[in-house]
Amino acid sequence: MTHFDTALSQHVQRTDTGRLRHLITLDGLTRNEITALLDLAQFYVRKPHELPARDQSLAGHTVANLFFEPSTRTRVSFELAAQRLGAYVVNLDMQTSSRVKGETVLDTLYTLQAMHADVLVMRDAEPGLPAQVAPFVASHVSILNAGEAHVSHPTQGLLDALTIRQHKPDFNNLSILIVGDLMHSRVARSTWRALNTLGIGEVRIAGPEHLLPPAHEFKGAIRHTDINKAIQDVDVVMALRIQKERMQQAHIPDDSGYCREFGLTPERMKLAKPDAIVMHPAPMNRGVEITDDVADGKQSVIQQQVTNGVAVRMAVLATIARGAHGQ
Ligand code: CP
Repeated sequence: MTHFDTALSQHVQRTDTGRLRHLITLDGLTRNEITALLDLAQFYVRKPHELPARDQSLAGHTVANLFFEPSTRTRVSFELAAQRLGAYVVNLDMQTSSRVKGETVLDTLYTLQAMHADVLVMRDAEPGLPAQVAPFVASHVSILNAGEAHVSHPTQGLLDALTIRQHKPDFNNLSILIVGDLMHSRVARSTWRALNTLGIGEVRIAGPEHLLPPAHEFKGAIRHTDINKAIQDVDVVMALRIQKERMQQAHIPDDSGYCREFGLTPERMKLAKPDAIVMHPAPMNRGVEITDDVADGKQSVIQQQVTNGVAVRMAVLATIARGAHGQ
């Protein structure tokens, strides 16, 4: 795994006065800061039959989405969030952008900044990239990390925490199991960070030994290689996608064998608490880490995670816009 420097990310995302100017990592955010973001996101949540929330928090701002890796949920939800806050939105198609002609990421950012884009939402496969570029953009520009290699996916961490809080607000007494390919998961790292800061009672992690993270990560989490033990009496079960695109051939598990050993099946879910919720950041490998019956079943809150993603990104955009302009 490539080295990444969370201390640098924590440092560069704040102004000299400590305001959050960029959002690169949840590391270093206080419990109050995370709670405030979740509270604002909850304010933006609407019921399915209602019209979506809107306001003009970003009126006059321009948000540019630069996704150097594929995305459905994060890219669309950042776009909708920005539009619903009154911003102009530009989506750069990276396949037809000048990056394919060899333009550097920084030159791409400078180009958008020169066109008055002031919020740059970035997803990239290179660990550490958001923290490396953040010090070089103009002082009125903010970088929002929309997924950084295996390192960090802060808005996903927030939307997962919000979804759990909506169902199980007593964090201190909660037990969560995160199961699957934790080694390659930026989601697991950011969600774990959010839950830890919010004081979650117990985190268990489970998966094949070679897909569990190095021992120095997920401090305090209880490690399992037997999901049937790990899932006993938990309140929340989060399955992760097997990220074949980040694995060498030797690490890629056989789909049906993986499902037998580690998949979320209806039989396995009976070992968790009867009111346990099922989460998955998606996209899902159905029939591998989760079966259809569980993904679409009564305990699943997977679509609610998607809905909350827009509200969380509205909260982050509104908060960052306020901080960047000292309001
Ligand atoms: N959960 C998530 O980041 O999904 P996308 O890759 O579709 O954005």
